[in-house]
Formats: sequence, C-alpha cells, structure tokens
Amino acid sequence: MEYEEPLFFRVMEYAANSDADVIDMVSGNPDWGSPPALAAGLHEYADTGGRQFQYPPSEGLRELREEIAARRQVPVEQVVVTNGAGEANYLAMGRALERGAGDEVVMTDPVYPYYPGKTDMLGGEQVFVETAEDGSLDPADVRAAASEDTACIVATTPNNPTGAVYGEETMRELVAVAEDHDAILVSDEVYDHFDYSGRFTSALEFDSEHRVVVNAFSKSLAITGFRVGYCIAPESHVEPMKSRHMLTNVATSRPAQAAVLHALRETDPDYYEQTRETLRERVDTFTSALDDAGAEYTEPDGAFYVLARFPDFPGTLENTFELIDEAGVAGMPGSGFGSAREEWLRFALVTPRVEEAADRLAAYFADR
Ligand SMILES: Cc1ncc(COP(=O)(O)O)c(C=O)c1O
Repeated sequence: MEYEEPLFFRVMEYAANSDADVIDMVSGNPDWGSPPALAAGLHEYADTGGRQFQYPPSEGLRELREEIAARRQVPVEQVVVTNGAGEANYLAMGRALERGAGDEVVMTDPVYPYYPGKTDMLGGEQVFVETAEDGSLDPADVRAAASEDTACIVATTPNNPTGAVYGEETMRELVAVAEDHDAILVSDEVYDHFDYSGRFTSALEFDSEHRVVVNAFSKSLAITGFRVGYCIAPESHVEPMKSRHMLTNVATSRPAQAAVLHALRETDPDYYEQTRETLRERVDTFTSALDDAGAEYTEPDGAFYVLARFPDFPGTLENTFELIDEAGVAGMPGSGFGSAREEWLRFALVTPRVEEAADRLAAYFADR
C-alpha cells in the first residue's frame, strides 16, 4: 500500500475550507469531553514549576508507569510511556524488525493506514491478510500468510476501521502464530475502552516473549492532542525500545503525563461507561438512518467508526469530496484503508449530529 501523506489531513483540510456547513466525521478526535480531573491535573501541574518543568525520566514518570502497571497487572519495568499509541506502534514494529528475524510485517486489509506507512519507513515488507466482511479475522489466514521472513504481526482490537473485536481464541492464536514464526505480535488496543460486545481480550492475557501491547489515553480520556500512550513489552524487548524512544523523542511531555496520572487516579468508572453509552446510541441512530438510506454498513462491536457502502458510489477521494460539497457530510474514503474496502466510506461517530448526517446522506442518494 502506497503511503504518501496522511489522507486524514487532506480530507479534513478540504472540509474545513468549505463555505457550507459540513458535519465532520473524518477524524478520530473524540467530541465528548475529557473527565474534569484531567484539567484539574493540568492546573495543579502549572503551579509547580522549577524541577517539575524539567525533563521527566525518558521511559515516563515513575508514578504514571506504576499506575499503568498496577492497572494492567504487569511489572512496572515492562511499561514505557510514549507519545501516543502512534509512537508505541513505531517502537514495537521497529523492535520486531531490528532483530534479524525477517522483514515482513503481516497486517490486515482493511488496515489502519499508519501501519503500512511505518512498515515502509522501517524498511519492512508489507503483507496483507483480508478480514471477513464483518471485520473478523481468521487467525488461520494469518498463519497461512506468515513465513520465515515474518518479523511482525500487527492486530488492532477493537478495530479501526471495521469496529471488529477479536475474541479470546483469536488473540490466543495470533500470539501462537507469532511464537511459531519468531515474530512479534503488536496488539494495538487503543480502543479497549470502547468494547460494546464484552468480548474484548487483551493480548496481555497471554504471557509471551512474542507479543507487545500498545495503548494510549488519546481516545479513552478524549485527549488526542496530549500525546500520552504506552507499550508493555517483555524484558527482552523493552530496553531496545526505550533506547529508540530516547533517541527519537528524549521523553514524552511532562505536563501531559502529570495530567493523565491525576485523571487516572480521580476518574470514576462512570465516565467510561457514559462514553460507551453515548457511542452505543450514536451507532444505533446512525445505522438506522443508514438503513433508511438503503446503505450497507458494518455494525461495530467496538471503537467508534461505521463503514458504509452506497450503491454505485465507491469510496474514492473524489467521491468523499463530492459528499462534502453536495451532502455536507465529511467521511474518509475506504480506499485510504487498503484495497478491501475501496467501495466503502468510513464515518467517525465523533459528533452529536449523527442522525442529521445520515439524513443528509439519505437525501443526497435519493436525489442521485
Ligand atoms: C488503530 C489506531 N492506532 C493508533 C492510533 C493513534 O493513536 P494516538 O493518537 O494515541 O497516537 C489511532 C488513532 O486514530 C488508531 O486508530
């Protein structure tokens, strides 16, 4: 898959430049607001100064790493705080590829497009495994695609863009495939708080030298601009990953880490439940309106995206621009997620106006 520039930015820019009222369903930027403890943590931090304004430890604030380790029930030494899940994916994929264990990165199609981009940047070879129409992944297909050159397998659960949640058996088998091929399973779990199926299983459930778990607070605390994430890696991988992190970033922003720590300690589980409830409602509202519009769509089990297909309207960049201009709805072209969903468009449910958006789409396609 060619990776030139993030398509997200092009579409967002196009929508922003429109004079019309456009409902933005492009980005993965949550609109539901962060828990109040986040801002309180940031205010508190602002009043410290002095040493607190200087470099934090490169691998992350000790207390934040301890908090993450306690929540995930892993030794603190396995936790590295990163600049979001984006950097955590980069560290994990870089580690997988630098071991001399092959240069292939196996990923799904449709795919979160930064994985093929990172694969190219790291000198790896892209290998794609198609998922089923509902987004589910058959680990047997991953096994069939894996070879002695496989260094890395990247899985996303809950999935962007399909909304699929991989169950326990799938995750167990993905770890096993990685083990059998001396590869590393990079399990990107940045949407773990957005599971509506109850089936989400973290790769952490399977203790192995061959899996690294990636996560972030970007989505769960609605802070994509803060850039705080983490990876959890077995000891054999964590030191080289820390070095890569230090050499590329020095460290992750200290005020952002301090605010996240405060938010984690002070936020009630209700915050996460309310967010899920909001999103469940949006999924229902949007998909029923899509039914009325005669569209085909995937019903997400997790995350907050819906893939939809309209008759004779492939998900090209051109058609995406057409919908912005003529329907006042901005989505992402399915072609931006590999070749399997070129017919589809992805809509992020990051606006309360999901019903209006679906109505606008219905009106546009009725007139076509
Ligand atoms: C699957 C997946 N991984 C990683 C990221 C990036 O996360 P972060 O903002 O924490 O770097 C995203 C953002 O949308 C994503 O969808």
